Amino acid sequence: MWNQRLFVGKRVLVTAGADGIGLEIARTFAAAGAKVLVCDVQQSALDRLAAATPEILGCLADVSNECDVSAMFDTLDQKLGGLDVLVNNAGVAGPTGGVETLSLVDWERTLAVNLTGQFLCVRSAIPRLRKSSDASIINLASAAGHLGMPGRSPYSASKWGVIGFTKTLAIELGAAGIRVNAILPGAVDGPRIRAVIAAKAEASGLPLEEVTRAYTSQASLGRMVTTADIANLVLFAASSLAGNISGQELVVDGNTQALS
Ligand SMILES: NC(=O)c1ccc[n+]([C@@H]2O[C@H](COP(=O)([O-])OP(=O)(O)OC[C@H]3O[C@@H](n4cnc5c(N)ncnc54)[C@H](O)[C@@H]3O)[C@@H](O)[C@H]2O)c1
Repeated sequence: MWNQRLFVGKRVLVTAGADGIGLEIARTFAAAGAKVLVCDVQQSALDRLAAATPEILGCLADVSNECDVSAMFDTLDQKLGGLDVLVNNAGVAGPTGGVETLSLVDWERTLAVNLTGQFLCVRSAIPRLRKSSDASIINLASAAGHLGMPGRSPYSASKWGVIGFTKTLAIELGAAGIRVNAILPGAVDGPRIRAVIAAKAEASGLPLEEVTRAYTSQASLGRMVTTADIANLVLFAASSLAGNISGQELVVDGNTQALS
C-alpha cells in the first residue's frame, strides 16, 4: 500500500477521534506508523477506543473550551513530546431548519465547535509545529463549505469559515514550512448522516426514503463516500507525497453538484 509506514516516528493529534470519521483517521495514521493522540468529549467513546486500540492514546477535551484545549496540549507534550500533524476533525451537524426558526444558542454552538475549536487548536499547535521538519494542518470542512445547504445555515457558514481560515493560515505559515489544507467530504455513510437525513425528513414532512434518495443522487457517482475515503485523503495530504500542496480545498464527495 502507498501509505504503508509513511508516518513512522510522526506525532499526530486528531480531534474528536474516538468515533466516526476521526476514529478512522486515527486508525489509518496509527497503521502507517504514527504515534497518535485523539481527544473527544465522550468518555464512553474514549473507553471503547482504549479497549479496542490501546496504541492510540486518548484524552477528554471539548475543542470549543479554551481550558480543555490547553490541557490537551499539555497531555500531548507529555505523551508524544511534540507534534507533526494536527487534524482538526471535530465538528457538529448543528440544527436543521430555516434561518428564521433557529435559536442563537444553536447558531453559536455550531460555530464554537466547528470554527472556534479549530482556531483554539491551531493557536496551540503552531509553536509545536514550528519545531517539526515536516509539519501539516488538516482542517475538516465539508461540501457545505463551498456549496449552500438549505436548512443547515449554521453548519454551512461554519464550514465556509473553515475554508477562509485554512487559506489564510496557509499563507501565514508558509514561510515556516507548515502546510495547511482543508478536506471537503460529501455525505459520509454512517450514523451521523442518517440522523441528519431523519431530521430533514421530519422538518420537511417528506418520506425518509425520498430524502435519502435526494442525498445520494446529488453526487454524480450516485453514492455517499466512506470514512476510509476521507482518512486516505487526510493521510495523503499530511504526507511528504503532498509536500507542495498547501492552502487547498481537497474535495472527496463523488462530484456533488448541490446539497439538498
Ligand atoms: N458525517 C458526514 O457526512 C460529514 C460530511 C462532511 C463533513 N463532515 C465533517 O467531518 C468531521 C467528523 O464528522 P463525523 O461525522 O465523524 O462526526 P460525529 O458526529 O460522528 O462525531 C465524531 C466524534 O466527535 C466528538 N465530538 C463532538 N463534539 C466535540 C467537541 N466539541 N470536542 C471534541 N469532540 C467532539 C463526538 O463525541 C464523536 O465521538 C466533522 O468536522 C464534520 O463536520 C462530516
